Amino acid sequence: MTSGFVIAVDGPAASGKGTIAKRLGEAFGLPVLDTGLLYRAAGVLVERAGLDADDPMVASRAARAVTAEGLDDPMLRTRSAGEAASRVAVHPVVRSILLDFQRAFAAQPEGGVLDGRDIGTVIAPDAPAKLYVTASPEVRAERRWKQLTAQGEPVSLEDVLADIRKRDARDGGRESAPMRAAEDAVLLDTSQMTIEHAFDVARRIVEAARARWESSQ
Ligand code: DC
Repeated sequence: MTSGFVIAVDGPAASGKGTIAKRLGEAFGLPVLDTGLLYRAAGVLVERAGLDADDPMVASRAARAVTAEGLDDPMLRTRSAGEAASRVAVHPVVRSILLDFQRAFAAQPEGGVLDGRDIGTVIAPDAPAKLYVTASPEVRAERRWKQLTAQGEPVSLEDVLADIRKRDARDGGRESAPMRAAEDAVLLDTSQMTIEHAFDVARRIVEAARARWESSQ
């Protein structure tokens, strides 16, 4: 159960949800958890050991070794870390190992902002504010490509678009897949928006949710 003001920000890869979550944290004075980093950390541990991310035993051992201190590693932002994360994240055992950390974060008395795939549905289903941030695969690919090239990672736009499509299929393509909008989430399609505009819309949605939440306390 969450008791503070929790904002759940879900959506596909490179939809803008990370930036929106971070800025909502600043605007509302709340701590932020990018839950993708937990899966990325597990994926990178598997990669570094030269093991197979598709093996649930290997992936679960890596998930158990994830610590909050390791989440600042810039390696977690790379393209291969995203791919490894998406592979370890399909194992239900990995998801359940990483559940407690995320639920504990959401249960902090002051509340918080969490961004991911299943925050509004599984981690914090009673969160008073839920957003599902999306954009077309082409727009997301271009954003991710800009980010990767700015990080010094040479990759073609076509390859990034292929990655995005593969990740969409893996993260959301099955009945049991984590990526799904909660029924009570507000859908925010940022395809035609600058990040400033998207954040402004998100802030207004959350302000309204906060007013409702405060009057119910
Ligand atoms: O949001 P991201 O690109 O950092 O996420 C990396 C991968 O981790 C994503 O492809 C799927 C997985 N993930 C997940 O399954 N559930 C979450 N709450 C966050 C990420």
